[in-house]
Amino acid sequence: MTKIIAVHSYKGGTGKTSMSLNLAASFAKAGKKVCVFDLDFRAPSLFAILKAQNVEYWLNDYLNNSCEINSALIDMNSRIPGDGKFYACLANPSTEAIRDISSKDRKWEMRALGRLLALRESLLRDQKFDYLVFDTSPGLQYSSINAIVAADFVVVATTGDRSDVDGTKRMLAELYNLFEKKTGLVLNKVLDTSATSRKTEMSAKIKSEYQVPLLGIVPCFCEVLRAEGNFIFVQDKPDHPFTKIIAEMAKKIENNEVN
Ligand SMILES: Nc1ncnc2c1ncn2[C@@H]1O[C@H](COP(=O)(O)OP(=O)(O)OP(=O)(O)O)[C@@H](O)[C@H]1O
Ligand SMILES: [Mg+2]
Repeated sequence: MTKIIAVHSYKGGTGKTSMSLNLAASFAKAGKKVCVFDLDFRAPSLFAILKAQNVEYWLNDYLNNSCEINSALIDMNSRIPGDGKFYACLANPSTEAIRDISSKDRKWEMRALGRLLALRESLLRDQKFDYLVFDTSPGLQYSSINAIVAADFVVVATTGDRSDVDGTKRMLAELYNLFEKKTGLVLNKVLDTSATSRKTEMSAKIKSEYQVPLLGIVPCFCEVLRAEGNFIFVQDKPDHPFTKIIAEMAKKIENNEVN
């Protein structure tokens, strides 16, 4: 069963953060207990998007063994009212913290992986979270590899950009296969909007080209770009097509229909 979802990509700017946040919010809106994690320690962004205030402990502190996970969970229920539960666990955006985590050695990263794996017990088993969603750094950062190892399912975001396509293919072949992870590809910022109506055809094409299932096709929406991270789309724009596409992806993951 999929419980931990990592959202990753080869290149930057493919929509990982938008997707992580909106997928998590979509689950919460559907009544689930969810936490979104910012594992992009080099360029934290959820802190700003969620306008978190007075954060006492960060995900950095949990991974550093300086606090328990509960101290680093931030209650964000006010953002997604309803039956669900919505939490965030944030990366510390201070320059000092970014420099600190960038200088960690292999041994520290191995211990950090252990701390991530322990969330299965503390959050999923004991506190009955339904989903943990990991937003990651692009490429082969240690923290991203740890997120992939700890996840049940990897959402791989890609755009049509040639360098992105080639790099994504290499990563699929070498990284996700290595860890035998279930993966679903999301083609994001698609300019050819007829692609969304040619889903079956696109799905077959993607499967033969990337050898992975297609989770979704997301058009490039000016409204998403223009929002500049100022709101959570699935909550604040419930009728927007972006919201509907994200909800479909969440459903597919939940029902194990990505194949
Ligand atoms: N489908 C879309 N249509 C239009 N703009 C989008 C879409 N998806 C994401 N964006 C925009 O693209 C930019 C990058 O998105 P986002 O920050 O989610 O990517 P990212 O992969 O997390 O980037 P990074 O690798 O830098 O962390 C943001 O301004 C976001 O609003
Ligand atoms: Mg990001």
